[in-house]
Amino acid sequence: MMSQQEITGSAGQPLILGAWRWNDLPMSPGEIEKLLHTGLELGISTIDHADIYGDYTCELLYGKVVKNNPDFRDQFRHITKCGIKLASDKFPGRILPTYDTSREHIVTSVETSLKNMDLEKLDLVLIHRPDPLMDPNEVAEAFTVLRSSGKVAEFGVSNFNREQFELLQAHLDYPLVTNQIELSLLNSEPFIDGSIDFLHTMNLPIMAWSPFGGGKLFKDEKLYGDLQPLAQRYECSVSALAIAWLLHHPATILPILGTTNKGRLHEIAKALEINLDREDWFKMLKYARGYDIP
Ligand SMILES: NC(=O)c1ccc[n+]([C@@H]2O[C@H](COP(=O)([O-])OP(=O)(O)OC[C@H]3O[C@@H](n4cnc5c(N)ncnc54)[C@H](OP(=O)(O)O)[C@@H]3O)[C@@H](O)[C@H]2O)c1
Repeated sequence: MMSQQEITGSAGQPLILGAWRWNDLPMSPGEIEKLLHTGLELGISTIDHADIYGDYTCELLYGKVVKNNPDFRDQFRHITKCGIKLASDKFPGRILPTYDTSREHIVTSVETSLKNMDLEKLDLVLIHRPDPLMDPNEVAEAFTVLRSSGKVAEFGVSNFNREQFELLQAHLDYPLVTNQIELSLLNSEPFIDGSIDFLHTMNLPIMAWSPFGGGKLFKDEKLYGDLQPLAQRYECSVSALAIAWLLHHPATILPILGTTNKGRLHEIAKALEINLDREDWFKMLKYARGYDIP
């Protein structure tokens, strides 16, 4: 049986820090370092990367941070993803974005991620998106090479549907440990369409990306306005309430926080102390979807 521990370690804490936006502003290595120290103070010790984040720059930025903070190698659990090839100035030969889950691309991509992040091993590697040309035998070979060399401890997927998940799992001798999917008040469909039920049946911890809809929650005046009185009643921010809503579900849901603001991390982490009432959970579902359940 899979547990949250495979993803976030023994700390028993479900929140994860996402690195996607680190080069948007951009953040300096010093600012990232401060954000990560705040994470550690709050018990958040897992980082979600991908090779492509920040147009292939976020892993390199993290590598600089690790050079100045060698303890981060052990203090954090490191997740990265591979399988997307962006059309980028960094790869002038590419004319359009493609997916590549060939053995060669997976192995090379993971080895580059390790080098960029100045790490010797990764705790978890995910296939970023389902590749219509995926040969599950090749993916299994790549995973096995990386696993037996000690470079990667566990594997999982992201944005896979049930059939895609089962296809890959059928070619592996060990379990995939997660599916990372978009899940939030702004994308509640997986709670309804059977996606969460499938992963729950498999006892898989579910990594939830864009738990605030990438920040849209704070720009949606109607939804934000509806949630505010509830947040006041729970004496927390709307952001903490939105995370508590995900954590209330009986499956193991691990929200990946995209904030680059350490003050907001404190606010959001209060979600761990909220014991949401069942009726309030449904009230929030109604606010999000715009109608009562049938
Ligand atoms: N597997 C995939 O395909 C996939 C896809 C997308 C993302 N991800 C992962 O999921 C992580 C999170 O995604 P995300 O960044 O979209 O998540 P998010 O947490 O839903 O959104 C983060 C955005 O919301 C803003 N925000 C947070 N709190 C706010 C507040 N109280 N008021 C106003 N704005 C607020 C942040 O701005 P500030 O920085 O200013 O706080 C940031 O721009 C990524 O870093 C990545 O690791 C995975």
